[in-house]
Amino acid sequence: MKKYFLLFSLFCFSCLSSVKAQKYEELAKTPPMGWNSWNKFACDINEEIIRGVADKMVESGLRDAGYVYLNLDDCWHGKRDSLGFITADPVKFPSGIKDLADYIHSKGLKIGIYSDAGRQTCGGRPGSLGHEYQDALTYAKWGIDYLKYDWCNTEDVNPIGAYNLMRDALRAAGRPILFSMCEWGNSKPWTWAKDTGHMWRTTGDIFNCFDCVDEHPGWKAFGVLQILDMQEGLRKYAGPGHWNDPDMLEVGNGQKVNQDRAHFSMWCMLAAPLILGNDIRNMSDETKAIIMNKDVIAIDQDTLGVQGLKVASQDGLEVWFKPLAGGDWAFCLLNRSNVDKEYEINWQKFNFDDEVSKRSTNFYNTTYVIKNLWTKKIEGSTKKDKKVSVPAQDVLLYRLSIAK
Ligand code: GLA
Repeated sequence: MKKYFLLFSLFCFSCLSSVKAQKYEELAKTPPMGWNSWNKFACDINEEIIRGVADKMVESGLRDAGYVYLNLDDCWHGKRDSLGFITADPVKFPSGIKDLADYIHSKGLKIGIYSDAGRQTCGGRPGSLGHEYQDALTYAKWGIDYLKYDWCNTEDVNPIGAYNLMRDALRAAGRPILFSMCEWGNSKPWTWAKDTGHMWRTTGDIFNCFDCVDEHPGWKAFGVLQILDMQEGLRKYAGPGHWNDPDMLEVGNGQKVNQDRAHFSMWCMLAAPLILGNDIRNMSDETKAIIMNKDVIAIDQDTLGVQGLKVASQDGLEVWFKPLAGGDWAFCLLNRSNVDKEYEINWQKFNFDDEVSKRSTNFYNTTYVIKNLWTKKIEGSTKKDKKVSVPAQDVLLYRLSIAK
């Protein structure tokens, strides 16, 4: 009898803990990681591509490196049926989204979907305005795990109302669905959305270049450095469960390897969601080495959940620190310019108190071992100043670990 009671208690405990792990508030303790169709495929998606991506996420090791969300962006939609329920595009997704979700789940992945708070999505498909509860219920029935909610065609819509409404609809639908707000930072969501979304876009769209602005009448898209600069002042608003989102990655979409390395490193220093945007079915070894570098991913996924900060900047060379759980720091030198730069790191210049994490670097009393996270080499300790060369449009990224 006692034995059965013990087994029963263990069973209940494991039920409870799995329910607990699925609570809405706990879906993004560290920045979400996955893949999204938009940056590479835009509207040209179909179930064959998505299934191929799912297969590759497992085969390539991406899933095991932490990239678990496979997200459909715009243009998966068909029409609403006679009762107003959304359907999938019958030509692109003939098997339907439920079938696709089952396939994705069978691979140990999670599935994300996309909608919009207005009447239509940015790609002109049906938006969720007036159908919020109905859509949330449909997503829950399909087995959706993540919703990206866009902001096109919302002229007369209040953002706080619209995003809270969809949050409430998702909660009411009963399935833990991670809520990614894509409102481009217009209403400063970092000031009001902590309990609304698990992440919010801070800017307009990323453009696939390292240092440029793509201008159109009425809107702009931004290169990597431009988006990085727009994160200034936002770090205090992010933390476990609610992240600033500087948009999806362009790594592997044609920029130079040094630029891709800098882009990925800086997104990790920002504790940004790591949502890949390349064709992972055809990746170069260089791209794989960047997006699957476990030491670099660990900087992003660090459980302290505090974004990095820029502590110095001169002639295109920036010095960044990010506090990590257990007392370590990530340290990054970013060379924005087109020429290689020689630099001498004088650690004592970087003793500072971080108001956000309430942590201090203390190079007088603490010695840190320096590990180069791209070469994986230990490069001495912070006892001595260090001369380095930072290649053009590239980074040096280190983990500083308290010496034992
Ligand atoms: C907006 C978003 C993008 C993408 C497209 C889809 O521009 O910001 O990330 O979702 O819409 O149309």
